[in-house]
Amino acid sequence: MNSTHQIYLAPFQGITTHTFIRVYSAHFPFISKYYTPFFSKIDHDTRLSSRKEHELQQLGAGLPEVVPQILSKDPAEILRFARICKSRGFHELNWNLGCPFPQVAYKKRGSGMLPYPEFIIEILDQVMKSMPLRFSIKCRLGYSNKDEILQLIPIFNQYPIHELTIHGRIGRQLYSGESDNDMLAYIKPLISIPFVHNGDIFSLEDFKTVSGKMPDNTKWMIGRGILYNPFLPEDILHERTDYNRMQKLHSFTNDLYLAYRFDMQDRLTILNVLKEYWDYLVNFFEDPQKVKRIIKKVKNFDEYEEAVKRVFELPIL
Ligand SMILES: Cc1cc2nc3c(=O)[nH]c(=O)nc-3n(C[C@H](O)[C@H](O)[C@H](O)COP(=O)(O)O)c2cc1C
Repeated sequence: MNSTHQIYLAPFQGITTHTFIRVYSAHFPFISKYYTPFFSKIDHDTRLSSRKEHELQQLGAGLPEVVPQILSKDPAEILRFARICKSRGFHELNWNLGCPFPQVAYKKRGSGMLPYPEFIIEILDQVMKSMPLRFSIKCRLGYSNKDEILQLIPIFNQYPIHELTIHGRIGRQLYSGESDNDMLAYIKPLISIPFVHNGDIFSLEDFKTVSGKMPDNTKWMIGRGILYNPFLPEDILHERTDYNRMQKLHSFTNDLYLAYRFDMQDRLTILNVLKEYWDYLVNFFEDPQKVKRIIKKVKNFDEYEEAVKRVFELPIL
């Protein structure tokens, strides 16, 4: 790899499952770190519910570096989960201070905590005293306004936080408007913790524009850009390979489908999981709406296989 840049895959509830990470990383080995969608409601000191335990075990089982994420405002719960993750072989825990969804934020969780620096200090004081693994944070510029981050940076700087990922929107925006990359470039020099940029990198051109604004930055968390175009990390890292992209994508989506059928024992809900991913992947094709229509209406595995065959006869971008 001839680049100093590191690309991390952003977490997506329902999409970046252990199955997805395993299959994606086998086909596209250009990601330095994967983050799990957030875990919450960790009620027991040593045990997880069987669903969470299964997901965590699979994520830890021989995959590339995976970082579990917790959504919580309870220091005891964060430490409980940290100990469980350590005992399952993980090296890092990520704290979600970015989730924008009202049902989360109204309860002062996720990005809803960002307007309350005193509350964050209280939690960090307790958590950092006995954190058994590396602790990183993923947040937004604020919940109600972008200046909230200016109060938080001096606080974060005081703790041995492994990495600080900041998404360039505020919570209230959800995903509307644009990631404020100028603001991210402005605050980066104020941050003494290793910084990870997150927001709106959808193409090599976007990457060039944003990295031009922060030339010394080397860590990039990318989400939708990779879901739209799984080749994006290798394009950014200049690993442009000359294989047939259509064939490669077909083989990846086929393996993903077979892996889900195996992992989820042929349950029909697999189709919903795959449709959710296809909602992003359609953007790789010249006519996304047409691909969406074809995939959306499938009701069983035979129809899915037939639909995918049709889709791969359509032109890609
Ligand atoms: C459906 C959906 C689910 C998400 N789930 C999570 C999550 O569990 N944890 C998290 O930190 N971020 C989550 N995110 C945010 C993404 O990880 C990422 O920060 C966001 O998409 C911005 O990055 P991008 O512009 O590169 O896509 C989610 C976003 C979406 C749209």
